Parts: sequence; C-alpha cells; structure tokens
Amino acid sequence: MTESRVFLSDNPASWLNQFLSQKRYSSITVLVDDQTATHCYPLIRTVLPTHHIVQIPSGEEFKNLATCTLIWQKLTDRQVDRHGLMIILGGGVLGDLAGFCAATFKRGIDFLLIPTTLLAQVDASVGGKLGIDFNHFKNHIGVFQLPIATLVAPAFLKTLPLAEMRSGFAEVIKHALIDSLEAWKATQVQSWEKLDWKDLIQHSIQLKEAITRKDPTEKGLRKVLNLGHTIGHAIETASLETNQRLLHGEAVAIGLIMEAFISHQKGWLAKDDLTQITTYILGIFEKNGSELVIEAILKNVFQDKKNRSNRILAVLLKEIGKPEWDVEITAEEIQSSWEYYLSA
Ligand SMILES: NC(=O)c1ccc[n+]([C@@H]2O[C@H](COP(=O)([O-])OP(=O)(O)OC[C@H]3O[C@@H](n4cnc5c(N)ncnc54)[C@H](O)[C@@H]3O)[C@@H](O)[C@H]2O)c1
Ligand SMILES: [Zn+2]
Repeated sequence: MTESRVFLSDNPASWLNQFLSQKRYSSITVLVDDQTATHCYPLIRTVLPTHHIVQIPSGEEFKNLATCTLIWQKLTDRQVDRHGLMIILGGGVLGDLAGFCAATFKRGIDFLLIPTTLLAQVDASVGGKLGIDFNHFKNHIGVFQLPIATLVAPAFLKTLPLAEMRSGFAEVIKHALIDSLEAWKATQVQSWEKLDWKDLIQHSIQLKEAITRKDPTEKGLRKVLNLGHTIGHAIETASLETNQRLLHGEAVAIGLIMEAFISHQKGWLAKDDLTQITTYILGIFEKNGSELVIEAILKNVFQDKKNRSNRILAVLLKEIGKPEWDVEITAEEIQSSWEYYLSA
C-alpha cells in the first residue's frame, strides 16, 4: 500500500478547496447516504467544481454487493475513467463500501475519505480496510487499499446523534487503554461530552495509524486494536437476536470491561485499574445488554472468524498501555467476566 495521510481540519471546505486546486481529475463523484446528504454535504458543496452525486440509503443492511452494483453502474453510466476522483462523505458503512467500489472500479480510482461519524474518524477511516458484508458474514469480502487522503473535520460531528457519538467514543477509550497510562488519564479526566475532541481524535488517529503502518495486513501487532472486540462482537451479534439491539461501540464498551476483568483474573491488570476502567465506562454507557444470556454470547464467541480451531483468542492488558494479543481465554472466564459485569 502506498503512503496516505490523514488531515485534521477545522474548516473542511477550505481544506478541500486547496486539495482540489492541486489536482487534475477528469471527474468528481461524491458519495453520500441519506443522512450525510442533508447534514454534511452542505458544508462542502460550495467549493466543489462540477460533480455528480451518488446517494445510497444509510444503514449496515445496505453494505452489500447490491449497493456496490448500483455504484459501479452509476460510475459506468457517467463514463468515469481511471482519472476520476470519488469523494466519500459518510460514516464507516459508506467508507468501507464506497471505498471498496473505488478500489476495484477499473482496477482502482482515487478516493478521498471524509468520515462524518466519530467511529469513522478515529477508527474505520484509518488503516485501509475496505469491504462489504456477504449474506450474514460481516466484512466478508474486501481489500486493503488506502485513500488518496483522509480529511477529518470535527465540524461534521455536530449533527451526529448522541448514541452514535457515544458508540464511537468506545473506540477512543480502547485506543487510550492500548496506548499508555498517560493517554488513559487524559481521556478520563473530564466528562466525556466536554472533552477536547480535536485533541482526542488526533491522538486516536495517530495511534491507529502508527499501529497499522507497522502491520498493515494484521499479521500480528495490529491485532491489539481488537481489545474489547472478541467479547464485544459476540455481544453485538447476540443483541441483534433480541429486540434491544446494541450499537457496535455499546457492545465494545461491555467487551472492554469483561476483557479487563479477565486480564485481572490472570494476575495482570491491577485491581485498581480494573475498577477505574469499569467505573469510567459504566458512567458513560450505563448497564447495557443486561437482558442478554451468556449462552448466546458464548455461541457467538465460538463463531468469530478471528478464532482458530475452537480456541478463543483475545487481546488482554498486561497493564494499561501494555496489550498482549492472541491470548487464549476460556468459556468459564467469559462467564465469570459476564457475572462481574452484571454485578458491577
Ligand atoms: N474499515 C475499518 O477498519 C473499520 C473499523 C471499524 C468499523 N468499520 C465499519 O464501520 C461501520 C460502522 O460505521 P459507523 O458507526 O460510522 O456507522 P454508519 O456509517 O452507519 O453511521 C451511523 C449513522 O449515522 C449517520 N450519519 C453519519 N454521519 C452523520 C452526521 N455527521 N450527522 C448525522 N448523521 C450522520 C449515518 O447515516 C448512519 O445512519 C461498520 O460497517 C463497521 O464494519 C470499519
Ligand atoms: Zn470496533
């Protein structure tokens, strides 16, 4: 993969204006979903030269091959050639999906990512993973390809619903726990709604960029980014089978607590740190998911594609800022961490 850069800007329109003035693209196609068409497109419209818009419905259920076909068809109808640019203005769903379309259309055209959710700004838009869901398998088809650039502007977050903001914040917490005691302290000093977003976003991006640059295709180190996710994914999937669906970050927040508990049980993470992590996360997320049953969570843990030959592998914390990947955890440990979470 070639080098790509993430730019943080307070003024997305002026950044974009400057970016486009340095390039000579044969066409510009702007990808939006129904929400970003209303809330985000107006923030950049005035600086865009002649362009086409492709709008798709918002939601994970549209992150599939049928939507790709629609996008490729529109690009074909408009005779987009290999020198066209795709500007992707949306959350992680649109970024993964439209990025995949751009990376494969005529063997790849340039795409500029403009993430508009907190989750996409600190996580999905960094690291070059693109793709779609296939039948019931999440992110089953995809490629690694970096965008020509990524423009992160906190200004887009003003219209993001609170629940989505909080969901993205789980990844910010995860990044701090992986990174260092200092980062963790800086994250938990104030109430989360009043944080210095620009600083936190920048820090989160830097951490993910540094890790994915060292291990772009997830052979080893990059796995630390799955902290909270072995159990978090299982909880997310289990919640889809109930009528109280959890957002990704809400499930990851629970996963972070449970995996911190297992880290402590293994004799690694100190008791005080576990208590601090639990109290902080519960202060933001409340006791989500308590209607779930452990059997459903365990069933989904065993189906996770990251596990090998029926062993459950997770990222645990030796201490805050010292993650260890590919650590085997047992069904019993998950069960007691669930009991810990419920009684915390
Ligand atoms: N590629 C990666 O490395 C990576 C990492 C993490 C997650 N992901 C993927 O990201 C996806 C989740 O991303 P997400 O949480 O951003 O979901 P999303 O893209 O569905 O966005 C959430 C909701 O917010 C709306 N929205 C977006 N921006 C808005 C704004 N500024 N104002 C108001 N509403 C807005 C969207 O239309 C949608 O309804 C998943 O498909 C996941 O697999 C990818
Ligand atoms: Zn995640």
